[in-house]
Amino acid sequence: MNFNVETQKLNDMARQAADVIEDHEYVRVISHNDADGLTSAAIICQALLRKGIRFHTTIVPRLDSSVVDTVNASAGEKDLVVFCDMGSGQSDILSGLKNSIVILDHHVPVGDSPAKVVVNPHLAGIDGAMHISASGTTYLVAKALDPANVDLAGLAIAGAVGDKQLMDTVNGTILKEATDVGVVSVRKGLRIGDGNIADVLEYTPEPYLDITGDRQKIDDFLGILGLQGNISELSDEHMRKLASAVALKLAKKSTSEAVDASIGDVYYLNKEIVKNVYDMVAILNTCGRMEKAGMALSIGMRDKTHLEEARKMAIGYQRSIVGNIKVASDMLRTGQNIGYLITKDMESTGMVASTMVRYINPDMPFVAVNQVEEIVKVSARGTRALVTKGLDLAFALREASKAVGGEGGGHNIASGASIPPGTEEQFISKIDEIVGQQLGK
Ligand code: C5P
Ligand code: C5P
Repeated sequence: MNFNVETQKLNDMARQAADVIEDHEYVRVISHNDADGLTSAAIICQALLRKGIRFHTTIVPRLDSSVVDTVNASAGEKDLVVFCDMGSGQSDILSGLKNSIVILDHHVPVGDSPAKVVVNPHLAGIDGAMHISASGTTYLVAKALDPANVDLAGLAIAGAVGDKQLMDTVNGTILKEATDVGVVSVRKGLRIGDGNIADVLEYTPEPYLDITGDRQKIDDFLGILGLQGNISELSDEHMRKLASAVALKLAKKSTSEAVDASIGDVYYLNKEIVKNVYDMVAILNTCGRMEKAGMALSIGMRDKTHLEEARKMAIGYQRSIVGNIKVASDMLRTGQNIGYLITKDMESTGMVASTMVRYINPDMPFVAVNQVEEIVKVSARGTRALVTKGLDLAFALREASKAVGGEGGGHNIASGASIPPGTEEQFISKIDEIVGQQLGK
């Protein structure tokens, strides 16, 4: 298949979803609590609002049977239920729903879906882990509902950045469309949020540098470069100087993927109330984690009421992630084929795992196992280089969690699971074994 045919297939699915949506007066939207899920929700809610279709939105951390119970209890008989950033891997759970369903997702489809329409890049031969996120998929549906929804493209880009995707193929097409009409603009430099340089380097978890979190070292680093002030006010020459100095630091230890993630194009979302894409992603992820989904959704829908509060929360939350990365580095264990840690009550293990594999222990995938109350949550992250060699964390986590009485899934490069307490070591050795087979060791 070629790219144009694949994209056309995905757009055809988006058209079908739009047709079903337009046939309804009321839509129950369910979406995920991370930046991709929240931007997806903001896109579909704006598109529905503009069409005069009423909606009720709920943001959830995962799709389980309690979500189905909630929807069954609250949705009217004729309402349409739209799932964003979830649903493709949970066909069995969704079969318990009474209503018509539309799924707008980028996770690998599993089983026969009970949905009327599934819009999913994998069904068009496009890798949803890297080339288009749920927000991009939802944006295609919004545009099928009305081409004027092109102004929502900035949210599609923010979701893809939140899911650490590549900006080529389908994402690249959305980005080009957005820049052509001025919805997004691009500046080259260090791929971080705006603010005072020293402050931002101190609390930002990515890029994770040997100076991150250490104010004295940051002041020394910036002093040598002769840089200070606000990032958005740096001249192009000063921005280049900063980016080169960071690249030099990264070259010592990190992956080329880390260099790409840290230096290059920074997207500015001209139509949104948060312009810098990294700030938008941090704010949405923080709100989602802090169970402030309403705040996140209102920011995605361009309401400034809670913006300053959300910005402050995001800075505090990023600081705590930096602290957790330091703790995780000290707790790092390695098996034959994976790096891992087993801990309790650690926040944001997904971010921790993705930093560990990109910046600290890049030769192996990283698995963070974290007990919170009576459930053990797992976040696993790989690199594109490992995926090219055969790594599939979605398969590894699904099989290893099944073997110990849990459940899991996700993408080849980033996956998660829940397992029963007491099974951690057995689970880790199972993943170690499966990853070894995948990488041909
Ligand atoms: O549910 P969902 O698809 O949104 O989650 C994917 C997660 O994997 C995101 O938190 C994203 O940041 C993470 N990810 C990663 N490294 C990648 C790709 C995705 O940490 N290379
Ligand atoms: O929770 P975390 O961010 O580590 O999840 C990474 C990916 O794995 C996400 O795409 C998430 O939707 C998926 N996941 C899953 N089943 C689980 C936990 C996570 O499919 N039990």
